[in-house]
Amino acid sequence: MCGIIGYIGSKPAVPILLDGLRRLEYRGYDSAGVATIADGKIEVRKRIGRIANLAELIQQSPPAGHVGISHTRWATHGGVTDENAHPHFDQSGKLTICHNGVIENYATLREQLVEEGHVFKSQTDTEVLAHLIGKAYDAAGGKASKARLVEAVRAALKQVVGTYGIVVLHLDVPDCIVGARRGSPLVLGVGTGENFFASDVSAIVAHTREAVYLKDFDIAVVESDRFEITSLLGGASGYEVSKVEFSEEDVSRGDYPHYMLKEIFEQPATILDAMRGRLSREEATAKLGGLGMTPHELRAVDRIILTGCGTASHAAMCGEYIIEALAHVPVEVEFASEFRYRNLPLPKDTLVFCISQSGETADTLAALRESQRKGLRTLGVCNNVGSTIARESDGGVYMHAGPEIGVAATKSFTSQVAILTLIALLLGRIRNMSTTTGLRIIDELEALPDKVRRILALNDHIKSVAEKYANATAMMFLGRQFNYPIALEGALKMKEISYIHASGHPSAELKHGVIALITPELPSVFIAPDDSVLEKNISNIEEVKARKGPIIAIGTEGCTKLERVADDFIGIPACPDYLSPILTSIPLQLLAYHTAVALGCDVDKPRNLAKSVTVE
Ligand code: G6P
Repeated sequence: MCGIIGYIGSKPAVPILLDGLRRLEYRGYDSAGVATIADGKIEVRKRIGRIANLAELIQQSPPAGHVGISHTRWATHGGVTDENAHPHFDQSGKLTICHNGVIENYATLREQLVEEGHVFKSQTDTEVLAHLIGKAYDAAGGKASKARLVEAVRAALKQVVGTYGIVVLHLDVPDCIVGARRGSPLVLGVGTGENFFASDVSAIVAHTREAVYLKDFDIAVVESDRFEITSLLGGASGYEVSKVEFSEEDVSRGDYPHYMLKEIFEQPATILDAMRGRLSREEATAKLGGLGMTPHELRAVDRIILTGCGTASHAAMCGEYIIEALAHVPVEVEFASEFRYRNLPLPKDTLVFCISQSGETADTLAALRESQRKGLRTLGVCNNVGSTIARESDGGVYMHAGPEIGVAATKSFTSQVAILTLIALLLGRIRNMSTTTGLRIIDELEALPDKVRRILALNDHIKSVAEKYANATAMMFLGRQFNYPIALEGALKMKEISYIHASGHPSAELKHGVIALITPELPSVFIAPDDSVLEKNISNIEEVKARKGPIIAIGTEGCTKLERVADDFIGIPACPDYLSPILTSIPLQLLAYHTAVALGCDVDKPRNLAKSVTVE
């Protein structure tokens, strides 16, 4: 949520900052801005709307300088206006900052500063932070120095309640950028003769693949050829320079018109990558060394909590069905935002999994910390290597899906479900599952990538179905058992990118309320593979048909009885019940995608959404 990039080195800063902002645009796209220091002046350009608007402004009068900071915003405090766009200045006009996060006590701080004569130009919490740091810097007096700026940042941040990832420039010390984080990600990119700050490595991977993932309470002062990291409380802070796993090519769109489509089509490979090296035929089980748990400890687990937000919470719901079916361990799914404030009974042998593509979602991180506070072992299922959830959890499983740039999650969902299936296999084998069953599950898992390829080959057909219904004002998604979470996910995808109101329900709940909505204008999407509840689903379809509701059915290829009752049919390859969510989710991703394209929506950057929600 919001993107930050900073540069210091020998090259002109603005092209690097603009390129980085474009790569970060998926994190927020209300407004954007840059600030550089050149010829003893701070040059700022900012503008509402997309990065393209800022680029246009910059083209009219390009700021010079070899040091700069920049930001793409997803508004929290203060509307979308040029004034509220970052960077923001302090009272002296010599200090400027970009900020991700939320300063919770900003109103009190602002009041105090106003009483002292500070004048604010925006409604943002960030400007308050700029004034606070500037005030501490000016109050310290003495010689201009990096140490004085770092101390001012430290003193100001100690007064702040909330979250931040910040980068700070000061005219007095133009050969450095100071960055700090608490609760919002910030990465230091280590180059040769140049260094970077970014809220997300994808912004800097074109320039360097060496990165330091800053920890909460780190303050880093960065020059072109050196950097130093200290802690908010004073003293040095340990760090590690990590190699970024992916390359510039991985963050490019290639020949695809949208990242979302590229990511949907990557799924045969990403599902394989989620399983790669993790299946043992010899032991007929999954090997998940990152969990850091002995078979004895895994055997002792008597309850699992799966938590996450958005699409990750739907993957968690799939996990509940899969783990309970294969391993018979009781599972509960909680939205991370609810879990963090609930007082759930948590017996000591409860294992908590925090599921998050970004590994930075504020609510999921809070759920992780809350469960750790309660003494529970808490594991992560994350995609972003080095992310906060991955680092703070007691162990976990990486998705290895590569960067997901499209705001609507696609490949991360199927990777999450694949990993939850591996967890179910592992837990099942430690309990009552036979070798034969374990081997059969492995066979089925290994067959998935090919089956996904076959579904992707239906892209044109799915596109024509999408175009047929694109003018609907609402849609309903219905599924049962393993595919009830897929009904929710299918509806979420449709809402997120096409803005068509959609709701997901267990098919059998139809009669208990939502059937009232059925009209010839309301299409229902039934997810009805050939499983134990197919006949039940068909009865529900008949009920909708009897009321003239159009039916789109996702079923098993060759299922003539389903094909006969549906107006439009999308056939997926046969698979066991517990694996069907991975397959059925893919036509629904494509259905939402093509509907959004048909409606002219901005698929990769849907309105009001952000890829990674790092504020509560
Ligand atoms: C945001 C995104 C969703 C995503 C959710 C959880 O709301 O728009 O697409 O599913 O965050 O993100 P995470 O990174 O934790 O998986």
